[in-house]
Amino acid sequence: MAVPLSSGTGRRRVPSQNGRLSVEVVIVPDAKAGGALIAGAMADLLRRTPDALLGVATGSTPLPVYEALAARVRSGSVDTSRARIAQLDEYVGLPADHPESYRSVLRREVLEPLGIGMDAFMGPDGAAEDIPAACEAYDRALAEAGGVDLQLLGIGTDGHIGFNEPCSSLVSRTRIKTLTEQTRVDNARFFGGDVGQVPHHVITQGIGTILEARHLVLLATGEGKADAVAATVEGPVAAVCPASALQLHPHATVVVDEAAASKLKFADYFRHTYASKPDWQGI
Ligand code: PGA
Repeated sequence: MAVPLSSGTGRRRVPSQNGRLSVEVVIVPDAKAGGALIAGAMADLLRRTPDALLGVATGSTPLPVYEALAARVRSGSVDTSRARIAQLDEYVGLPADHPESYRSVLRREVLEPLGIGMDAFMGPDGAAEDIPAACEAYDRALAEAGGVDLQLLGIGTDGHIGFNEPCSSLVSRTRIKTLTEQTRVDNARFFGGDVGQVPHHVITQGIGTILEARHLVLLATGEGKADAVAATVEGPVAAVCPASALQLHPHATVVVDEAAASKLKFADYFRHTYASKPDWQGI
């Protein structure tokens, strides 16, 4: 069963288009700068909406975001006392207290450093006996909580967002998915390098579910993500690259370091656009 939130408000807010209707690409010098930029956007959101529901991602890429936000919490410039956290995806079959279940990872890497309790956390139950029911319950719980205000995303080398692997339906809801061999190999480093330990199945928010968040922020760093980033931003909207669904969202931001931006044909245009934007607009 999905973990209920202590303070779901059931409110709906309209997506913030923030003055533009295209995927904004922000090219930053390195991962740390990307983390600081996105943590700044989260801090601004929490100032405007103290009980904002932040959608968070696992993996190596988002860590600089959480570190930068935790530094702001420690310095007292961000108040997370009413903030709420929603999980993006989860392995199927790992007990919730397994150190590599995403619930455990998020508790360690996000909730504890930000001073947010598990009563303000919601996620799908990857250990449920009835997985389809757990998926439906999580989609329902997200809606009842008022929807995700800002969803942070990584991207797989194969273009996945959440665990929506290539050829996932662009209107999919939270459901069980089978990981590609590439994703299992990519994630083996979290299981002592043993790909045999990486579960084959996961629960992931669907692409349609993800698109309901009010602001999507995808962070990609390193050359290994350059092809996926180019397909996401400059390729067609196509299920073969699930992240390309961001092109359908009214407020999507793709933050990339120079290496991840290295295959973008319009990199100079993106740099010029970002350098010229008004300060009040934020990302
Ligand atoms: P990574 O994972 O940040 O560890 O590269 C990203 C993803 O699989 O979404």
